[in-house]
Amino acid sequence: MSNQDDKLKDIIGHAKEYGFVFPSSEIYDGLSATYDYGQLGAELKNNIKNYWWKAMVHMHENIVGLDAAIFMAPQTWKASGHVDAFNDPLIDNKDSKKRYRADVLIEEHIEKIRTKINKEVAKGKKRFGDDFNEEEFRATNPNVLRRAAEISKIEDRMKTGLENEDLADIKALIEELGISCPISGSKNWTDVKQFNLMFSTELGSVSGEAATIYLRPETAQGIFVNYLNVQKSGRMKIPFGIAQIGKAFRNEIVARQFIFRMREFEQMEMQFFVRPGEEMKWYEYWKEYRLKWHKALGLGEDLHRFHDHIKLAHYANAAADIEFNFPMGFKELEGIHSRTDFDLKQHEEHSGKKLRYFDPEINESYIPYVVETSIGLDRMFLAVLSASYKKETLDDGSERTVLAIPPALAPYKVAVMPLTKKDGLPDKAREIINSLKIDFNCQYDEKDSIGKRYRRQDAIGTPYSVTVDHQTLEDQTVTIRDRDTMFQERVAISDLHKIIGDKVSMRSLFNQSEEVTAE
Ligand code: GAP
Repeated sequence: MSNQDDKLKDIIGHAKEYGFVFPSSEIYDGLSATYDYGQLGAELKNNIKNYWWKAMVHMHENIVGLDAAIFMAPQTWKASGHVDAFNDPLIDNKDSKKRYRADVLIEEHIEKIRTKINKEVAKGKKRFGDDFNEEEFRATNPNVLRRAAEISKIEDRMKTGLENEDLADIKALIEELGISCPISGSKNWTDVKQFNLMFSTELGSVSGEAATIYLRPETAQGIFVNYLNVQKSGRMKIPFGIAQIGKAFRNEIVARQFIFRMREFEQMEMQFFVRPGEEMKWYEYWKEYRLKWHKALGLGEDLHRFHDHIKLAHYANAAADIEFNFPMGFKELEGIHSRTDFDLKQHEEHSGKKLRYFDPEINESYIPYVVETSIGLDRMFLAVLSASYKKETLDDGSERTVLAIPPALAPYKVAVMPLTKKDGLPDKAREIINSLKIDFNCQYDEKDSIGKRYRRQDAIGTPYSVTVDHQTLEDQTVTIRDRDTMFQERVAISDLHKIIGDKVSMRSLFNQSEEVTAE
């Protein structure tokens, strides 16, 4: 088992042990690729949603939110292209009987070549020291150039194969590249087949009257069909955006890697409606803004990168992913797509209703173009959890597991602990909690030694622990301990609110990055 697998396994175990994520319906042995968020997971998820909503909606005067139904008129999905084109190219290994996405197998092969290039660059760096010019090295080193050309060739062939639906050539490419099944190690592949990812169900209970409806595979369509309602009732002027957080469903055949790829998941999407011709400007704006939003969390350097799409979705004229370095390596966390006027045009055609916007500044009516930002909430949760999960060896040789979750996202902000269960200390601790709990999620903890209690709070990512002792009763001071530095100091109870607030409020994230605040 690789280190990456070990780390993911550790995180899954930790998430279950402390109440972040449980396998769904576990008493019945669970349901594959379905998970429930526990008491701490629900808090962390809400905090991530809140950070996103604040940044996207409250910090942007021209963006508003909505909450559309999961079920939509079935014509929606015909118009959006999902009925005909929301497919994955799948391939089975005949020996392991495992099913894979053909494009993912090829992309993983490309990633291996990229790793070889990076190793070559690292070798160069070591050899030339301070004189090393990475850009020049990448542009001139024959090994790097040969491998980069190899990547381009594979990418071009895959793109052509997928765009032309030439699935036979996708299979041929997999065979020519010598890609083998990670489970059986064999290269004994079936043909590649397309598989539609939408879940369907029946509406109506009377036989013969039923209509097939779909569980939405993206939240975006709830925004498109409401765009004129919002524009008119909110007196919105282009450019403006509509944001939404909600569940989406996809019948993923290859659902795995914990909460990374699930069949039921949550998206945080924003559609930004712009004047035709201005979409590339806004596409660049949103790419940059969304990366800043991620970086403001301070999860670590070099954890994010852009990846331009090779094969564009049926609705896009430009698309990039923000990839995150998960325990399984760099994978898609968020997509930024320039969706042109595809969706609105299609809805206009299928519904027969005019979906045009009259632009008073240029005295023209048009169908707006759309730039979309779309992030998976569960993937963001996994990104936060995996970057925060650390095992540390302390000066005294002991070990601690700490979740260094950005304080603004931490489930509990402060734990308040009476040193003993006697002498009125629990009452004092509860009095402190009562004065803080309206603004900060607090935990009361009186069980076990203080040392053990600190470790427990470290393990769930609580930024501060406050200890109430006998001196507290005399001079109204407490000890406050910082999760990350483990530094402890004596402070007045009356100062606690400010100390905690400075560190854990959302404001601290926005202060770090002025650009996240700016329009
Ligand atoms: N409206 C555009 C759209 O849905 P997408 O790239 O298919 O685009 C957007 O999905 C985001 O949703 C992805 O970047 C990912 O974070 C998340 N996502 C997609 N499929 C998922 C799945 N099966 N499980 C968890 N998250 C998923």
